[in-house]
Amino acid sequence: MIELFSNDFTREIWGKHAAELSTSRILFTEADVLSALRQYALRPQQIREVNSQSEAITAFNGKRTSEPRVDFLPSEDDATLEDYVTRIDRLAGDDEWAVMYYGLYAASSTMWDAAKEFSDRLALAIGYRPGGRVDIDCFIGRYSSTYIGVHVDHAHNFAFTLRNGKTMFTWPGNRVDLLWKRFPDYEPFKYEGTPLSNKTDRVAYFPEDCPHVAETKDEVSVNVNIAFWETGNDTHLNANYVKSCLIAPNKTRHDVRSSGLAALNPDDEFMLSSLKAMLDGNFIKKRMMIAQLISDTSGRLNLGRPLIDVDEVDDEIAINPISTLQWSPWRETSEILVSANGHCASFLYSEELQNVLRPLCNGDKVNIFVLANHRDERLSEEVLRVVRALAGWGAL
Ligand SMILES: [Fe+2]
Repeated sequence: MIELFSNDFTREIWGKHAAELSTSRILFTEADVLSALRQYALRPQQIREVNSQSEAITAFNGKRTSEPRVDFLPSEDDATLEDYVTRIDRLAGDDEWAVMYYGLYAASSTMWDAAKEFSDRLALAIGYRPGGRVDIDCFIGRYSSTYIGVHVDHAHNFAFTLRNGKTMFTWPGNRVDLLWKRFPDYEPFKYEGTPLSNKTDRVAYFPEDCPHVAETKDEVSVNVNIAFWETGNDTHLNANYVKSCLIAPNKTRHDVRSSGLAALNPDDEFMLSSLKAMLDGNFIKKRMMIAQLISDTSGRLNLGRPLIDVDEVDDEIAINPISTLQWSPWRETSEILVSANGHCASFLYSEELQNVLRPLCNGDKVNIFVLANHRDERLSEEVLRVVRALAGWGAL
C-alpha cells in the first residue's frame, strides 16, 4: 500500500488513480466527530448561517427525505458514536438509511483544524493547491447503494473510516457511460474499475473525475471525507458585489435625441464615475485581498475557525503550528489587515505592529508585555487587540 503524501503518492496516485493508502496519522477521534455531528441537532440554523454548505441530509430506503429526519441525528443520550449508530440502526430496522453531514468545519474547531492541516499537508506533498474549495464531511449509514447512483463529485476525495462496512466502487474518468446508473444496473461493470475498501487502517482516495458509487449493505459504516474541488472561480462574487453597489432606479422616461453630435447621458456618466471611484479607491482591491486572506489562511476552507472565548492571554505568545498568519498593510487608510485561521480584521497601521507579526510568522515566541506597556497608549491597545483577536481565532 502506498503511503499517503509520500513521493509515490504524488507521482503515481494523485489525480490519476483511485487507491487505498496507508497513513499513520488520523487527525480526529470518534469523540471529535460525534461532538461535531451533535451540533447539527443542537443548532442547525446557526451552523447554516455561518456556512451555507453546512447541512445534514437524511435518506431512507434509497430516497432523500424532504427534510432531514431529526430522529436520525445524535441525541443527548448518545454518549459515543457507537451508541448513536446502534440506536439509529435499531430505529431503522430492516430499512436502509443514510445521514450525510456536510461542512463539519463550521460545526467544530477540531474538525476545522483537521481539514486545514490535511489541506496544508496535501499542498506540501503535491506542490500546489487544487483550484476549488475544501470540505470535510461525514457519511453514515447502511444501504445497498448510494441513493443518487453512479456520479462524479468533481472533487478529489480522501475517506477516513471510523466503522468498516463501506465499499466504494470507482471507475476511470472516461467511463461516463456509467454515470447515473443505479443499483443493480451498474452490477455488470463493478469489477471493471477499482473497488476501494473503506477500512479503519487506511485512507481511500479517488480523483475528481472518477465515477463512483458506494455500498454498505451489511454493516453501518462511518466515514469522514476530506474533499478538494478541482476548480473554483470567484469572479461572480466580485461582479455581484459591484452590482450591489450600483443601485439605480428603473427609468420611466428616456430623453429624445435626434441626429447630431452625441455625448454620454448624465445617468451613465454618473454610473461610470461611480465605477471608477470603486476601482481607484482600492474599494474592490481591498475586498479581493480580504477574500484571499480568508482563503489562504484557512487552507481553502474559506471560513473562519469557530471562535473561542478568551479570558486571558499569556505575556508570551506564539503561533499555533497549524495556523497560517498573514497581514496586508494599507497605507492609504492607515490600516493593517491581519488574518489567521480564516478570519480577518482591520487594525491601525504601525511599524511596531508589523514587528510583532514578523517573528510570530517565523514561529518565534513574542513577549507582548513590553509592547502592551508602550508609552504610546494607542499602540499598546492596538497590539492587545491583535493578540486578543488571534487568541479568539485559535491561532495562538
Ligand atoms: Fe460522491
